[in-house]
Amino acid sequence: MNATTELIQQHLIDPEICIRCNTCEATCPVGAITHDSRNYVVIADKCNLCMACVPPCPTGSIDNWRSMPKVAAYSIEEQLTWDELPAALTEAELQAAGVSGDASVEPQASVASVSVTPGEGESFNSGAFGATLPPWSAAHPYTNLHGPKAPVTASVVGNVQVNEAGTANETHHIVLDFGSLPFPVLEGQSIGIIPPGVDAQGKPHHARQYSIASPRNGERPGYNNLSLTVKRVVEDHQGKAVLGVASNFLCDMKTGDTVQVIGPFGASFLMPNHPKSNIVMICTGTGSAPMRAMTEWRRRLRASGKFEGGKLMLFFGARTQEELPYFGPLQKLPKDFIDTNFAFSRTPGQPKRYVQDLMRERSADVSALLKDPNTYFYVCGLKGMEEGVVMALRDIANDAGLGWDNVAPALKREGRLHLETY
Ligand code: A2P
Repeated sequence: MNATTELIQQHLIDPEICIRCNTCEATCPVGAITHDSRNYVVIADKCNLCMACVPPCPTGSIDNWRSMPKVAAYSIEEQLTWDELPAALTEAELQAAGVSGDASVEPQASVASVSVTPGEGESFNSGAFGATLPPWSAAHPYTNLHGPKAPVTASVVGNVQVNEAGTANETHHIVLDFGSLPFPVLEGQSIGIIPPGVDAQGKPHHARQYSIASPRNGERPGYNNLSLTVKRVVEDHQGKAVLGVASNFLCDMKTGDTVQVIGPFGASFLMPNHPKSNIVMICTGTGSAPMRAMTEWRRRLRASGKFEGGKLMLFFGARTQEELPYFGPLQKLPKDFIDTNFAFSRTPGQPKRYVQDLMRERSADVSALLKDPNTYFYVCGLKGMEEGVVMALRDIANDAGLGWDNVAPALKREGRLHLETY
């Protein structure tokens, strides 16, 4: 190498504290983040240092930088094998590589511009729509109280299946108790579960992220516990038989068993708390966990007579009614409390329906809510539904004369559209 070797600030993700939540990949406006089954990594020659991914990262694992000679930047292949970040190169090592002084390009907080109306052939970029800030009236969350190097031990105090036995997508409602250990959470936050044992490479498993399904004052009010909605994973996204390590561990747990937990995580997918604020919830499968948490908090407030909440509207998709988690309890909620809409895609003899189809059918009510600046939208579940849901919102806004080109940036800026998919 010679003295003209270019120095870069290489953007890296710390594999020791990353919880593999996909937020960075979903946020990156230039597609510079990718992952395999173990690590999330940044593609050095695609990353433009725009910093869009940094504030939304729940752990701060995204905010790592190394001065590197451009020609020696860590490749994707190398980063995917890492268990920890390499040490920064010393001044002497940099000089030996033929570079000196500061990196030529510094990370910069620029707002990458991504079109809210993708043109023909342009791929959908959820980072253009999803808010990275919470509603103005969100309660202040605690985050990262317990990291992977010092997880807390929680005990299982409940584990029941919440869809019909014998259907695919077996889903459990699991209650964890923290005893006297501090673990304060809000609706919409998540935790990390560290499965016991080691992976195929003999390395400890990394934490798996689960959304909390209970409200801030506990699954059982006044107790230091929370609940999760866990689907037993028995195949991968391509339908190949694969047993999910954490989900099978959790679904098989018995009362009294213990589990290692990190978190809590999440500072933007939080509910509004001001009077008359409306919540529109759109979910599939276990994406219902945060929706259950928010609904239950509002239900408790309403029962106490202390809060004048606005409307709650739920669009919930599953293959069949039997597979849908919490179908029974949802049916029991009063109609004047929550407007519930189910979309079933595989009911024999019925046409396939997705949540976005239902939203279009209910466009008059959805557009009235879109018009109200006190309405907040939450989307959680399958990655594939993001585009369909956002495009349904776009069409509903445009048909109602609201102008999506104005509505979309406002939803993002005001923390009124939250996307969390996997
Ligand atoms: P499908 O029958 O086409 O798989 P899953 O059971 O796999 O977790 O999915 C939950 C629900 O989400 C199912 O009804 C599934 O329908 C539906 N779904 C699949 N893809 C999409 C999509 N792109 N948009 C909305 N819903 C979807």
